[in-house]
Amino acid sequence: MPTFVYQSFTHTDTGLVCDGVSLESIVERVDTPVYVYSARAIRDAYGAIDDAFAAHPHRIHYALKANSTLAIVRLLRSIGSAFDANSGGEIAVALCAGCTPADIVFTGVGKTRAELERAIAIGVGAINAESGGELDRIAALAAAQGREARVALRVNPDIDAGSHPNISTGLKINKFGVSLEDARTIYRERRGRAGLRFVGVHVHIGSQITTIDPLQRAARALATLALELRDDGIALEHVDVGGGLGIAYEGRPIISAADYAGAVIPEVRRTGLPLLLEPGRAVVGHAGALVARVVDTKRYPDGRRFAVLDAGMGELIRPALYGSYHQIAPVRPRPSPPAPWDIVGPICESSDVFARDRVLPPLEVDDLVAILDTGAYGSVMASNYNRHLLPAEVLVDDGQWTLIRRRQTIDDVLALEL
Ligand code: LLP
Repeated sequence: MPTFVYQSFTHTDTGLVCDGVSLESIVERVDTPVYVYSARAIRDAYGAIDDAFAAHPHRIHYALKANSTLAIVRLLRSIGSAFDANSGGEIAVALCAGCTPADIVFTGVGKTRAELERAIAIGVGAINAESGGELDRIAALAAAQGREARVALRVNPDIDAGSHPNISTGLKINKFGVSLEDARTIYRERRGRAGLRFVGVHVHIGSQITTIDPLQRAARALATLALELRDDGIALEHVDVGGGLGIAYEGRPIISAADYAGAVIPEVRRTGLPLLLEPGRAVVGHAGALVARVVDTKRYPDGRRFAVLDAGMGELIRPALYGSYHQIAPVRPRPSPPAPWDIVGPICESSDVFARDRVLPPLEVDDLVAILDTGAYGSVMASNYNRHLLPAEVLVDDGQWTLIRRRQTIDDVLALEL
């Protein structure tokens, strides 16, 4: 079944708009580069996942790592989302957005002692532990506080997610979790340990997964483990299948939330336990665009055309890091015939390329272009490389736009330096 994706960015007579608001009008006020997000697209994507899983008790713990700009987190909180946090910083953002600690699961392959102490003290819903050693440290820290930490163990089922190697996490060569064979022993050995309360099992095999099979196999492996633990007398409260549902970056339909639910629910139903989901990209990916300005164009003798933008790998690193594809749309496409362009950033690295040989209408200096589907893993991965300043962010909701993060200034950056 094709994914229904609400299209927030559409072409009109006034150029490209986000839910009816002209991108040019936003840029006139906040300049470029700027991330523009559609609140409606976020609500719709969240709702589509929630509806797809309606047949089974479930809770969506939106993965903050995809986009943790406070206004976005507040928006998701307002529609009932719980959260998956990957650091003390993300926990702080979730709390700041009005989330209660019980609605946070804390995941992450390298949690520090200070982060664990704080997570235990505030009483997060679950700490997804990555190893037996981490469970032991959690037990000791919790016992020292006179508390019981709610924990799950992340298993690594050795399943190929089939996505880019840099974002596949469920193979035994990856650093994440513990093997299925070890998991049962780890639970058994620590059952009844002071300071620990086992509440779940956890898996996350990767991101931008576009086929059902790996997601279903991971859910099956996790459900089987939960049943074995029940036989061992370890009563759990949930099965956490992580995130990973991909989105259609190239416009071709991929698996829908309904396909995903249809594959996962029958596996988890066997356990009689509620499901926890940790989608990130599928909630916010389509909702954002990075709007940038053309600052130079050039043509080489062999005919190659370049358009250099004022945004590059500092604002959006996905193409440089994973070779990922993003649609690029001129905000006011010129009516002349299209031609292949290399769309590049201003950073002094040859990897600072958004697209090669992309067929686009003619581009000129000062034209605006939107790099689409950048709501997930866009602004959160931005850096100050080459002393570029972090971009502004804008949220469009109900025909109005609001600046939700002002552009960083050089004074902001230098304020940290003594
Ligand atoms: N849960 C855990 C434990 C995770 O590690 C992740 C993502 C998620 C949930 C959310 O996965 P999603 O539903 O968004 O696929 N920077 C990369 C993606 C890295 C994903 C890391 N973990 C990119 O730009 O593609």
